[in-house]
Amino acid sequence: MNFSDSFLWGGSIAAHQCEGAYDEDGKGLGIMDLVSVGDYGKPRKIYSQLEEGVLYPSHYGIDFYHRYKQDIKMFSEMGFKALRISIDWSRIYPNGDDEKPNLLGIKFYQNLINELLKYQIEPIVTLYHFEMPINLVKKYGSWTNRKVIDYYLKFCKTMFEALKGKVKYWVTFNEMNHIDPQTEATDIFTYIIAGLKYSELTDKKQTLATIGYNMTLASCMAVKLGHEIDANNQMDCVFGIEPVYPINCDPENVLKAFMQTDRDFYQIDAMCNGEFPKYKIEEYRSAGISLNITDKDLEAFKVGRLDYLGMNYYASSVAKYEGADGKESALFGGLQNPYLKTSKWGWTIDPIGIRYLLNYTYRRYGLPIMITENGLGAVDKINENGEIKDDYRIEYLQQHIREIKKAVEIDNVNCFGYLTWAPIDLVSATTGQMSKRYGFIYVDMDDQGNGSKKRLKKKSFNWYKSVIASNGEKI
Ligand code: BG6
Repeated sequence: MNFSDSFLWGGSIAAHQCEGAYDEDGKGLGIMDLVSVGDYGKPRKIYSQLEEGVLYPSHYGIDFYHRYKQDIKMFSEMGFKALRISIDWSRIYPNGDDEKPNLLGIKFYQNLINELLKYQIEPIVTLYHFEMPINLVKKYGSWTNRKVIDYYLKFCKTMFEALKGKVKYWVTFNEMNHIDPQTEATDIFTYIIAGLKYSELTDKKQTLATIGYNMTLASCMAVKLGHEIDANNQMDCVFGIEPVYPINCDPENVLKAFMQTDRDFYQIDAMCNGEFPKYKIEEYRSAGISLNITDKDLEAFKVGRLDYLGMNYYASSVAKYEGADGKESALFGGLQNPYLKTSKWGWTIDPIGIRYLLNYTYRRYGLPIMITENGLGAVDKINENGEIKDDYRIEYLQQHIREIKKAVEIDNVNCFGYLTWAPIDLVSATTGQMSKRYGFIYVDMDDQGNGSKKRLKKKSFNWYKSVIASNGEKI
């Protein structure tokens, strides 16, 4: 197999990280509108209400809300075949439980999609990328409450209908898998996914299991709804997966590594195999965790199966082992791999991991896979000639695309798209920084939100353009 002629080259962005305009045109407050910028290495601070004098990066983003036409034109200049965007729930239903949707919010996304279609860029639309109306957290307790599933489905229905015939590829959720009741979590990860701080949860294990279950169920129900509204809809849920390797061939360590990689797959199993996995229900039962599974739920799992899989890939890690004194990986708490380098933010750079992940996932489910995010967060400097020579980014992406090529050509994995995170600099989700840059397009803005917001092409802009033009032949 080769990269098909219709291979979807492009990029991926999320509303709360780029749009800004947090209180314009009837938008309500979303969970990320209450999170500040984190200093280097330190997590972002989460507020329970807006406070004077605090800088909240989602309030201004990179002003994509007003500049999307100019930005999409630049994506089209690179030859993009696809752009993954997210819809901010709080633009459509400002409080989440409103009776009627906010028409100005819908209009914005209709215009945005029309602009993409004007350039033959396939829109890939995520319905939940860390963007929940804060009211649903405060009033209902977020995903712990089944009522929130109903409100989510109402929002999905509104968008399926508003964009019917224009959008074919949908993503129900971004990276719900980072909530695991059996491991310690950080506040920022439970917060970006569910608007709740880990440290403040009572009965942590039970609460996280309930959230994980309810979100999985909500995804299956949204898939069914998406199919009912338009049989052409292709439904997906995106997972952020970190392969976990054993430190050596001691069977104990190999087993640990398998278990730790696999712990992120139970929700994919539920969304692909027609039932919530029995092994997970049993695991919960022995840990004293109970799930309230109704007959209606059983039916929802049966019919709400995914059409394709979206994988976000940044890094791998090493499983913790008996007597380990290695440095912890910055991402999800495994250990760092002595064979591999890391980014400035401590994320392990492992191109072979993407081939491993593609094979692991494709062989397990047999569904087509899209790489929905992959990229390097780095500090970029403008030189005296006004250029940004981001060779490190080109090198990172080159290495990863080569491994995807091997997965497709040698291993026969059906991978039908590659979206970089993010084609334009935007606010980092975990740190809130602008200086953690991923783009082919530089945005003139610093961590304090100062700057002209002018867009500038980096060296990688033309490089990616030629990768796309050659359909992955010239990497
Ligand atoms: C992914 C998220 O997990 O990682 C994105 O889907 C996020 O929203 C990306 O931006 C990179 O993480 P960060 O913290 O560097 O922005």
